[in-house]
Amino acid sequence: MNSGIDGAQPDAGAVRLLSLAVNGQRQQRAVAPDITLLDFLREQLGLTGSKRGCDLGECGCCAVLVDGRPMLSCLLPAADLEHSAITTIEGIAAGTALHPLQQAMIDEGAVQCGYCTPAMVINGVHLFASEPRPDAEAIRTCISATSCRCTGYNRIVQAFERTAERFAEEQP
Ligand code: FES
Ligand code: FES
Repeated sequence: MNSGIDGAQPDAGAVRLLSLAVNGQRQQRAVAPDITLLDFLREQLGLTGSKRGCDLGECGCCAVLVDGRPMLSCLLPAADLEHSAITTIEGIAAGTALHPLQQAMIDEGAVQCGYCTPAMVINGVHLFASEPRPDAEAIRTCISATSCRCTGYNRIVQAFERTAERFAEEQP
């Protein structure tokens, strides 16, 4: 076990300084060792787009991108993310220009209460970045990572399909 210079044990409960990037902006904040990334984003940075559903890693509503990969922010200790790059739903649009999937979600009526929408989009942005023309199975796998209580999923599937069509048109 590590000990301090003076022989004292380090305080595992001590607040520590966390430095990371969120939506392209460098953040340096004091964080409690047990605060989750979800609470850090919502409570310390005021980024409330990432939703709390279950806090158990089951509903998927809290998904964000960590170094480009979708992760469940309710399960991640913020203190473990030193020097990471986090992207939340607030960082997906380019100014007023929505990501094509965001626009398709609106156009297809895939947003009802909207609680699942940020995570659906976060996962979809990762999907389309890695595979601009995903097949039906890839789309359904991506969508199944997030629980939606409102839509029955069909409109969300349609939004993903419309996005895939748009990327296909732009990159024939
Ligand atoms: S809040 Fe449900 S998986 Fe994170
Ligand atoms: S739109 Fe309400 S949970 Fe999906």
